[in-house]
Amino acid sequence: MRRRVDETAASKRTEEKPVKSETVKVQARSSWWVWVKRGLIALCTLYVATPFVLRFFPGVIQYLVYKHAITYFVDLRRPSDLGLNHTVNMYLTSEAGVTLGVWHTVPEQKWKEAQGKSLEWYEQSLGDGSPVFIYLHGNTGNRAAPHRLGVANVLSALGYHAVVMDYRGFGDSTGEPTEDGLTTDALYLYHWVRARSKGSLVIIWGHSLGTGVATNTAVKVQEQGNPPDAVILEGAFTDIKMPEGFPHPFTWYYWRFPYIQYYFSQDSIKANKFVLPNVQNLKKMRTPLMILHSKDDHMTPFRMAEEIYSIAKSVLKSEEKVRLVAFDGSHGYLHNGLYRDPGLPNFIREFVQSVAK
Ligand SMILES: *[C@@H]1O[C@H](CO)[C@@H](O)[C@H](O)[C@H]1NC(C)=O
Repeated sequence: MRRRVDETAASKRTEEKPVKSETVKVQARSSWWVWVKRGLIALCTLYVATPFVLRFFPGVIQYLVYKHAITYFVDLRRPSDLGLNHTVNMYLTSEAGVTLGVWHTVPEQKWKEAQGKSLEWYEQSLGDGSPVFIYLHGNTGNRAAPHRLGVANVLSALGYHAVVMDYRGFGDSTGEPTEDGLTTDALYLYHWVRARSKGSLVIIWGHSLGTGVATNTAVKVQEQGNPPDAVILEGAFTDIKMPEGFPHPFTWYYWRFPYIQYYFSQDSIKANKFVLPNVQNLKKMRTPLMILHSKDDHMTPFRMAEEIYSIAKSVLKSEEKVRLVAFDGSHGYLHNGLYRDPGLPNFIREFVQSVAK
């Protein structure tokens, strides 16, 4: 009897085991599946809701366009942490309440001399006769982004000064970004540099969204009677008024989605005053221009560079004053990576020499 009981108990136990593990498996699978479903629902909701949010709360576009809040977790006061040992960090006030973080990198051959030097030394070095580049960056992050460091390094190695600013609302600069604000900041920096550069060339280099700020600035200073010596546009876009299928150059992650154009209406863009009229500006500009663009640029397609090139050529009525440097798509530079091109220093040097003539 006792034995029997034991037997049944034992068999019960052996029976129980597989049942239990089965349940555990089923539970595991179902909780995994629940999370997948939740994820999918969240994605769908995001996809459906985002355009409506943009349509009805155009203020969100300000964040999307500038994405200025993204930081790189670096101490912007210490550019030497990033290998820029001949760079000074400084703050300029472009208008009341707006403090801008700026890095000034001197020509590389001065790196030893630059060790431990004061702000005044750097400021005075701007008048040493070497060309000065004002770099106006694109719409994400701050002046420490790798591709921005990359450009500063290329320019410095060529023996030029690189002055890289974070517009208002970017990096450690104060204030909120608007198109007018960005242009005000760039204009201020331009005049600040001009006041110290003596007879040196001052060249404005805009990248991505910064190309719009660059042409805005170039037109303004030209109207003030003191145009920049040259402008370089890297990864430039033509206009916010895009042809169909191309609502806004900085909504690239939505390009491939159906019917999305409707939501990025002109109204929302106008409400935020994102005009950045590169084409209109180019028609006024009389400064030598170099356009740098990678053929595999996924944010601002290469045809935009060709368009800019043909406009500038017809306006300047000169083949010499405007050049388009195309980088083969096989390098994979996309929108930000041109600074890696081994041929880039030569293109820049040649352009600077042509401007200096
Ligand atoms: C400082 O920077 C220059 C130029 O990039 C480099 O050649 C040099 O090795 C650096 N020196 C130190 C001590 O990091």
